[in-house]
Order: sequence, then C-alpha cells, then structure tokens
Amino acid sequence: MQIVILKDAASVAEYGANIFIEQVNKKADSVLGLATGSTPVALYQELIKANQSGQVSFAESISFNLDEYLGLDGSHQQSYRYFMNEQLFNHIDIKQENTHVPPGDAQNPVDACLEYESAMANKGGVDVQLLGIGRNGHIGFNEPSSGLRSRTRVKTLTKETIDDNARFFSEGEYQPHLSITMGIGTILEAKKIVLLATGENKADAVRDMVEGPLAAICPASALQLHQDAVIVIDEAAASKLAHGEFYKHIESENQKLQSYLAELASQAK
Ligand code: GLP
Repeated sequence: MQIVILKDAASVAEYGANIFIEQVNKKADSVLGLATGSTPVALYQELIKANQSGQVSFAESISFNLDEYLGLDGSHQQSYRYFMNEQLFNHIDIKQENTHVPPGDAQNPVDACLEYESAMANKGGVDVQLLGIGRNGHIGFNEPSSGLRSRTRVKTLTKETIDDNARFFSEGEYQPHLSITMGIGTILEAKKIVLLATGENKADAVRDMVEGPLAAICPASALQLHQDAVIVIDEAAASKLAHGEFYKHIESENQKLQSYLAELASQAK
C-alpha cells in the first residue's frame, strides 16, 4: 500500500482528484469506480471544477458505484443514485447512460447483483476505484466479517453503520438496513484503488486497515493484498498509525524516484 499523509482534508481531496483527472486524460473511456459518503464530496467538487474549466472531459467515461440501499429507488433523496446525480453527474459532461449504481429497487436483487458484475466485466473492469472507509473498517457496504473474496451481493448493515448514516435521514423516515454492495473480491479486481479518509473518527479504522492483520473483521485490511492501492489520509486520520513517520519518508523517497524517472524520460525525447 502507498500511504500518503497530507495536512488536511482539502489536500486529500485535491490529491485524490488528480489521480482521477490523470487517469481520464490518459484513457478517455476509463471505467471509474465511485463511492458515496461525505468524504468523497470534496473530491467530486475538484472534478467538477476541472471539468468545467476544460482540464478534463468525462464524455467517454463510464462509472460504476460501489453500493446502494436496498429498498430505495433512484429518485429517493437518500438513495446513492440521487446523491451521485446531485454531487457529481449533473455537473460534469459524463453521459447519464454511462453511469451505473446498483438498483436499489430491483425486483430480484440477487439477479441484479449478478447483472451488475457482468456489466462491469463487459466494460473491461474498473480502472480506478475510489473508496471511503467506515468507522468499523467497512468498504462499500462490506461490513466486518464480509468474505475477503466476496462478490456483489445483498448485505445486511450493522447497527453502527445504520446509526452513522442516520444523520442523512429525517426523523421517522424509513432507513434501509439492507444494501447491494460490490464485494471485497470485486473491489480488489480494480486496477488501481484510491481510498480517502479524513478526521480523527477514522483513525482507528485507518490503523487497523494499514497496520492490523489481514482479517475479515476489518474489511479494508483486504487492500493489503492489492498491488496498487493508494491510501490518502489527513494528519488526523493518520494519528493512530505506529509508523506514520516512516510512511512520510517512503513518500519523499518516492517523489525523488518519480522526478528522476521524469528527467530520464525527458532526456530520451
Ligand atoms: C457509507 C458508504 C461507504 C463510505 C462510508 C463512510 O456507509 N457505504 O462507501 O465509505 O459510509 O462515509 P463517510 O465518508 O461519510 O464517513
């Protein structure tokens, strides 16, 4: 894992957004894996700015979101489809038909999961997957004890996740306790993974993901198996890491290597 520790949430968003902008500029028809939650919102704002200023175009891009509440259709204000339209899709030049969110209103959710997997495979799989992390270490809606090779499926939410997300629902409003989520095995197939975490309330989960054992009890620890996972965090989210200084040292060495390689490439031209 590449651990990038930055001073604040704004720098995390900018760093993460640049990875997506570079990816799409390199391959216009990139398949982007997208996420919901409050953490990616600032990154989406960076993408909107970059798109509106002509720095990047998503006209050929394809997206697949990680998860959706089961029981909410896309017009419901708490659905993740609604969230994505509001926070990103309505403000950039991506074609709505190229955006995919698991269908929370599927009549047969089990078939819908299989179809979602096939749709991703038909597009050649995800090039870059964006992730947040739950306080309990979940990614997507893969709650603790999720199989490390799990595929897109119906998942029951923990009480902790339901409570954490209750802030988005008004009092008395129906809040789903089931979801459709890409599995951990599905997520691990993305060619690159970018996980963002900010704030002190994520520090325990970040520590367990990076320095804890590989274990289903912390689903995000599965990223230890991935060959190109970048963990972008602010100082607060990094505050419980035992080896934070070492990760910063690796990063500075990494940057020197990148500049050396860039210099080599320019000499070869
Ligand atoms: C939800 C989503 C996750 C997200 C998590 C953290 O449960 N299913 O994909 O990573 O919340 O959200 P936040 O960024 O708001 O802390």
